[in-house]
Amino acid sequence: MDKIIVAIDGPSGTGKSTSARILADKLNYLYIDSGAMYRAITFELQKRNLKSNDLKSIIDVTKSANMKFDGEEFFLNGKNVTKEIRSLEVTNNVSKVSAVKEIRKILVDKQREFAKENNVVMDGRDIGTVVFPDAKFKFYLVCDLKVRAARRRQDFMDHGFKFPIEKIMAELKKRDKIDSTRKESPLRKAKDAIEVDTTNMIIEEQVNYLFRIVSGLDL
Ligand code: DC
Repeated sequence: MDKIIVAIDGPSGTGKSTSARILADKLNYLYIDSGAMYRAITFELQKRNLKSNDLKSIIDVTKSANMKFDGEEFFLNGKNVTKEIRSLEVTNNVSKVSAVKEIRKILVDKQREFAKENNVVMDGRDIGTVVFPDAKFKFYLVCDLKVRAARRRQDFMDHGFKFPIEKIMAELKKRDKIDSTRKESPLRKAKDAIEVDTTNMIIEEQVNYLFRIVSGLDL
């Protein structure tokens, strides 16, 4: 039987990952944070000091990357890199890395692989448009920039990093621009996605809103 896919897209700081994780828990689906996969490759390329013109090595590293999600933890080639992939260095470079067509193709295949055996909630930028255009449920989250920056700051603090809000706002703006104007799978709302403005919603409200729709309570 076909597995059920809940696709959640939108810019960062809209509460995607947090609500997707809780929603998956409530539904007993597998949660896949596709951004973590792009971050992991960024981290690995930085670690190996690979230059952007060394495409062959970049493809090899991406293809051979073994990725595993275990609750809140993320493992790359057997090593827990949950914290490392949230560093500012990775965050500032991930948009560039995720714009590389060859990397996207390999990671999209890996994302589809996860959904072969499991019902999944997957969040990202192109899940409803490219990875699973036929997903049963598609959401597109939006939120005011200031609120997104405040959430991102808290997220950084939870992972042990502290930055001024202005710096985070500037980085978010820059990242939004790269993500939505890139040639390959730009950040875009799928035509059939339900748009959810989370500016004035706390996480619990967001999750309940999504849960009611997915579980059929709102039909
Ligand atoms: O959601 P996040 O901030 O962890 O995502 C990190 C970066 O990865 C983000 O700048 C865009 C990119 N990304 C992407 O291009 N496609 C996805 N499906 C998920 C993330």
